[in-house]
Amino acid sequence: MRQPLVAGNWKMNGSLDSIQALINGIREGMSTVTSAQVAVCPPFIYMERVKALIEGSGISLGAQNASHQESGAYTGEVAVSMISDIGAEYVIIGHSERRTLYGEDDDLVSRKFTAVLAGGLIPILCVGELLEEREAGRTEEVVARQLDAVVSHVGIKGFENAVIAYEPVWAIGTGKTATPEQAQEVHAFIRQRMAGHDQVIADRIQILYGGSVNGGNAATLFAQPDVDGGLVGGASLKAPEFLTICQAGNA
Ligand code: PGA
Repeated sequence: MRQPLVAGNWKMNGSLDSIQALINGIREGMSTVTSAQVAVCPPFIYMERVKALIEGSGISLGAQNASHQESGAYTGEVAVSMISDIGAEYVIIGHSERRTLYGEDDDLVSRKFTAVLAGGLIPILCVGELLEEREAGRTEEVVARQLDAVVSHVGIKGFENAVIAYEPVWAIGTGKTATPEQAQEVHAFIRQRMAGHDQVIADRIQILYGGSVNGGNAATLFAQPDVDGGLVGGASLKAPEFLTICQAGNA
């Protein structure tokens, strides 16, 4: 039995005031979340503040990105060791916004994944197809390519302590959610692909769904056998709705 994980990806949103209100709101409802692990991924600049705000709440901290380099002359970058220093546990890697807006390819994503593991943190590896790829019947091919790139870089054992998020790009921030059946189909494919390398790792790994998850659709998505929670963007910025999504993971 895999424990669900619900991770809020705040993207480039928030202020000192709004993050305090958001965390307070989530904290107040945490006793209603009985099964899911809960994590929030604020912008880097707010991570230390959020770490203090979540203390003792059971909420975990994650970053939205990390450098693949250890340290040095890389202006504007943030190293995994720094994220770890702040007390974070997770790092989102290969989000489609990083891939499409900032040119991160499979090779760079694989390097970042490796750096996160080397730093002792848990990568949340995002994979997913564009709308035209889905329409061309290429979903599995694209997802397989994205997964295989990382597996061939770190080896399957690198997934012993990792999370995968299936995020169809056409569903991110669009209000168009994959149907539970569409999500399950790809999640099962991902698990099968991992099982081709290692059955135990495939059975254990959490595979999150992301893309317009909200308070209304989370329960049916999370009820799918291979959907182990969600990576939530827009709806993670509203405490009551985020809590409803976290409760959708209740056994
Ligand atoms: P969304 O974003 O929930 O706003 O669609 C999800 C994500 O990008 O992780």
